[in-house]
Amino acid sequence: MNSMFCRCGQRFLALPSSAVRHLSTDSTPPRVLITGGLGQLGRSLASVLRKTHGNDSVVLTDIKKAPSDVLSAGPYSYLDVLDEASLRRTVVEERITTLVHYSALLSVVGESNIPLAMKVNIDSVHSCMQIAQEYNLRLFIPSTIGAFGPHCPRNPTPDLTVQRPRTIYGVSKVHMELLGEYFQASRGLDFRSLRFPGVLSADTPPGGGTTDYAVHMAVAAAKDRPFECNLRPDTRLPMMYLSDCVRATVEMLTAPADSLRLRTYNVTAMSFTPEELVAEIRKHKKDFTVTYKPDPIVQAIADSWPEVFDDSGARNDWGWNHEYDLSRLVRRMLESAAKYH
Ligand SMILES: NC(=O)c1ccc[n+]([C@@H]2O[C@H](COP(=O)([O-])OP(=O)(O)OC[C@H]3O[C@@H](n4cnc5c(N)ncnc54)[C@H](O)[C@@H]3O)[C@@H](O)[C@H]2O)c1
Repeated sequence: MNSMFCRCGQRFLALPSSAVRHLSTDSTPPRVLITGGLGQLGRSLASVLRKTHGNDSVVLTDIKKAPSDVLSAGPYSYLDVLDEASLRRTVVEERITTLVHYSALLSVVGESNIPLAMKVNIDSVHSCMQIAQEYNLRLFIPSTIGAFGPHCPRNPTPDLTVQRPRTIYGVSKVHMELLGEYFQASRGLDFRSLRFPGVLSADTPPGGGTTDYAVHMAVAAAKDRPFECNLRPDTRLPMMYLSDCVRATVEMLTAPADSLRLRTYNVTAMSFTPEELVAEIRKHKKDFTVTYKPDPIVQAIADSWPEVFDDSGARNDWGWNHEYDLSRLVRRMLESAAKYH
């Protein structure tokens, strides 16, 4: 799935540190543990937090072997989130104050290995909730547009509505949202979550989700290659650029508790279909060709997901605002795909 990406060419994003609010309210530096940190999102978040709080403020972890630039950027260690004792030990030994739990099997990968998805996406969440309560940690676990399902309003999809997803990924994320909100309300756990749309960047390889086509399409276009799309041309899905996703995460992590009317918010930047993305790409690459061969599993997932995400709650409550729209996203992805692939 990630064959177009060169691991050693993977880049992480940097936001200006002035754009980042501080994580600790007193003079004690925060200590942030990121699980699943070598996926699409982890390194960029670590980079932004380290710019503000120092290299040692973030302990990046995963079960993958880290490239040398990760090792030189700050603390990195092996951490299998299915091993609760190791997770607890890392929290204690590293004096962690905030836990960002990114380890997960995404929608398409999850459907291909349901038992493992249940372990990684459900069992590890139980461990994180337990440990966060024991050690009084702030806990951030992202959710997804995949947490809704075919019976919810799809255009637009509000923060609060029926959630009956039909993938193990979506089911596990609803479980996580409800458990986190329950422990927040009943035990005072400082749980925070954002439902991300498809997160796009040509700098970091996507991890096997339904919206990955958009990144692979941009990489193909940048390389002047034809592209075969695994979704129908009219499949509309919500999306955001990676730097917006990272900024939303930091803003949610640092929002004053009394500004949070909810503990799980929708966030998004735009919605488009494959044919709209092709039209935008052709403004730069006029000979770009695309054929459509919908994958029945991926198409069925996309057809059950929101088309347009209503994130007015995040915008009103804690000032969320995206910076990348479709034209800026395409320009940026074509530039970085040409540079790094
Ligand atoms: N990328 C998106 O478009 C998107 C959209 C919505 C929500 N999210 C959520 O954001 C989080 C991060 O997503 P991502 O795109 O970086 O995912 P990714 O698939 O790119 O990375 C997940 C990481 O988890 C790690 N992992 C798997 N099993 C593990 C285990 N047993 N122990 C420790 N680590 C393990 C993998 O090695 C991988 O590096 C996930 O929770 C995902 O559900 C992502």
